[in-house]
Amino acid sequence: MGMVPMRTWFQRLLARMRPRMFSAQRYWERRHQRLRGSLRTVGHIQLDERANAEQYEVKRTHITQMIRRHVDAPDERTLLDAGCGVGVLTEAYVKMGFDVVGVDFSAGAIQQARLRSVNARFLVQPLERLNLGRTFDVVTVIDALLHVVDDAHWVSALESIHRHLNPEGVLFILDWLNDDEEAAPTAHVKPRPLAQYEKCLGGFGLTLIDHERFTLAHEGATKDLLVFRHARIDESSDPRP
Ligand SMILES: C[S@@+](CC[C@H](N)C(=O)[O-])C[C@H]1O[C@@H](n2cnc3c(N)ncnc32)[C@H](O)[C@@H]1O
Repeated sequence: MGMVPMRTWFQRLLARMRPRMFSAQRYWERRHQRLRGSLRTVGHIQLDERANAEQYEVKRTHITQMIRRHVDAPDERTLLDAGCGVGVLTEAYVKMGFDVVGVDFSAGAIQQARLRSVNARFLVQPLERLNLGRTFDVVTVIDALLHVVDDAHWVSALESIHRHLNPEGVLFILDWLNDDEEAAPTAHVKPRPLAQYEKCLGGFGLTLIDHERFTLAHEGATKDLLVFRHARIDESSDPRP
């Protein structure tokens, strides 16, 4: 009888300590090394190659259609792929005509991205401390912010992403949104509600201008594709005389 509460107490303590002991950088570096050459490195770890390829095709179609809806003349535009992983989608942006830079905090991922997408440029940098010294017409952050599990890093990541966006630029975020933070199945995932994204990015002057939801059939997950841009000062609604 006496052992049961003891184990429960210990398990609770472990659960509370786990997020503090978890290193996202170490997790991703190991994962990119262990699964090198497989889509499971950036896709769903429990799905096989074919299922991951099919899911990537669905994501690529939704994302590129959304980009075309909001950005004209891609061959005259620059694009930052923030949290680019091994460059699967980075290569799709190159094929659309964009001048592309990809960043990821995993050196192993960037090594693979350079082989996959020879016409993009890549840098190893964390989202929360991006420092490219320039801005872009388009920034994409695909399935990366849900992996920034530390709340302070998440705010810094949004701040530095915003700093790399042109005043007229468009930001595309694909994420798993959820009001229940406890819904996260593992330590490397932290979903947040849409309101939290809108509030934080709203603080940087960015407004949600489009939102699409779709399902990835193999993993049964719902994804939200969000589009933000700086609020325009519409002259017709200027209250000044
Ligand atoms: C699920 S993968 C998605 C990769 C890519 N965007 C795609 O859709 O193929 C998540 C990526 O985010 C990167 N990542 C996670 N946290 C990061 C951070 N704080 N800074 C930079 N990259 C990060 C990981 O290394 C990993 O490559």
